[in-house]
Amino acid sequence: MSLSNLTPIPELFVSPESAQKLKIEAGTLPSWDLTPRQICDLELLMNGGFNPLKGFLSQADYDSVVENMRLADGTLWPMPITLDVSEDFAAGIEPGQDIALRDQEGVILAILSVTDRWTPDKAREAEKVFGADDLAHPGVNYLHHTAGKVYLGGPVTGIQQPVHYDFRGRRDTPNELRAYFRKLGWRRIVAFQTRNPLHRAHQELTFRAAREAQANLLIHPVVGMTKPGDVDHFTRVRCYEAVLDKYPQATTTMSLLNLAMRMAGPREAVWHGLIRKNHGCTHFIVGRDHAGPGKNSQGADFYGPYEAQELFKHYADEIGIEMVDFKQMVYVQEKAQYFPVDEVPEGATVLDISGTELRRRLREGLDIPDWFSFPEVVGELRRTSPPRASQGFTVFFTGLSGSGKSTIANALMVKLMEMGGRPVTLLDGDVVRKHLSSELGFSKEHRDINIRRIGYVASEITKNGGIAICAPIAPYTATRRAVREMIEAYGAFCEVHVATPLEECEKRDRKGLYRLAREGKIKEFTGISDPYEAPTAPELSVDTTGVDVDNCAHQVILKLEQMGLIAGN
Ligand code: PPS
Repeated sequence: MSLSNLTPIPELFVSPESAQKLKIEAGTLPSWDLTPRQICDLELLMNGGFNPLKGFLSQADYDSVVENMRLADGTLWPMPITLDVSEDFAAGIEPGQDIALRDQEGVILAILSVTDRWTPDKAREAEKVFGADDLAHPGVNYLHHTAGKVYLGGPVTGIQQPVHYDFRGRRDTPNELRAYFRKLGWRRIVAFQTRNPLHRAHQELTFRAAREAQANLLIHPVVGMTKPGDVDHFTRVRCYEAVLDKYPQATTTMSLLNLAMRMAGPREAVWHGLIRKNHGCTHFIVGRDHAGPGKNSQGADFYGPYEAQELFKHYADEIGIEMVDFKQMVYVQEKAQYFPVDEVPEGATVLDISGTELRRRLREGLDIPDWFSFPEVVGELRRTSPPRASQGFTVFFTGLSGSGKSTIANALMVKLMEMGGRPVTLLDGDVVRKHLSSELGFSKEHRDINIRRIGYVASEITKNGGIAICAPIAPYTATRRAVREMIEAYGAFCEVHVATPLEECEKRDRKGLYRLAREGKIKEFTGISDPYEAPTAPELSVDTTGVDVDNCAHQVILKLEQMGLIAGN
């Protein structure tokens, strides 16, 4: 049966009375604490946003979605929605068992009746879903480094929605939006997906799209998880609210979508279309490089700029929502007006500010012209992104024991304190192990916990406008990358590889540890009996052989200056 776009859609929730009872019963079940991404997925599963899914994918559905973008029964569904768990947890769960799904505070949100448990081939998933098994893709990186090794699948019984304390009035389930459109008599609704602040070009594009489709407009920004490094959703929502006033009254509304994006370009566009259809929309805007993840490790784009539009077009009938495709909008100076890039009058002067250029101007406190954005939006962005020279940041030294990390870090700290302006904290390897990680040893697992703790503290310092200097060995690339992501959510990350060769470190042997390691008296010693994965693209690399500390610290200062983190006098 085909549902009209405004009739209620099936949800996975039980009645409030049954939910009450189930919650008590579920208290004794094995329980899984959902990750932030799984909470987003569960919310949209339960409220019908992922209709027709009835739970986390079974293995047969997963295989078919990965291979063919279809569920095992042939229904179009491009994105694997799976419950990834640790091997330890999975070992205690058998198909046929129920498990309670809890949020991060322990509240039971749903019950999963496990039908399938399997270990996926993640490289294959990456190739098929993201088009490449390349860690420069945030979705692939998440798959390999954050997602658990084992997947559980099965139907979900919804008990309650995840709780949100922010912008509650702006969050709507698919059925709430459908009811809202019914109430207002809106029949044709064009949805605009976004993870960025809206500027004049977007306002122009969305307004034109609505006009072309003779439809009302739904600004439907993602506030779940977007690309690491994006503007945080609190700032964005304040920006959207300012832009909403610019549309003619009663034509446009905004609702926040708690989706965890995968940045899968073409597949993601199809997925976004299905989700918007579930939210009662009849049209969906697909622009240039929809849900694009940026450059791959070879420096090329992962997807062609209009590949998402092509794939969407191919499946439009099955998706059940009409695509409004748009070229990039650019400003034509002579006309003082925006035009799609392919409709610019000949010989006209085109003005455009790229995302990178905008970030540079914000970072350096430079002018952002009125033709580009609205003063209210620029004001909000400036409020949350002060110029880089007044933001917090982290300098992360990594290198072998005895390479000179702590010595340079100490010298750097003193130099930064001499400059003043921001509080400076040194998280030295030895000091951290004394105060934060005294129970940890040097296994891979323990080293990772240690580095993640340092990363967490540094990210909090960075968030609050301070300078964190870290100086652990941090031998593993993946862990350093995770720390970089944690910190870059709030400020700059400057990785400094103290690349003093092993022979030199061993010759110095300040603490006498290398000798003990060679004698086998210390196990798992980095560089001797344990690995050190050298950074391939650090912001700076210094070798302390024959160079004095002051000079090394000065090199770091120059780098920080070049990154705009220290203002010149
Ligand atoms: S890690 O891998 O980043 O967690 O290591 P880190 O916490 O920076 O190590 C701090 C100091 O511990 C001493 N130490 C060892 N290092 C490496 N391997 C083994 N097995 C080991 N056992 C003790 C070492 O002196 C490190 O000090 P630094 O400051 O690097 O010289």
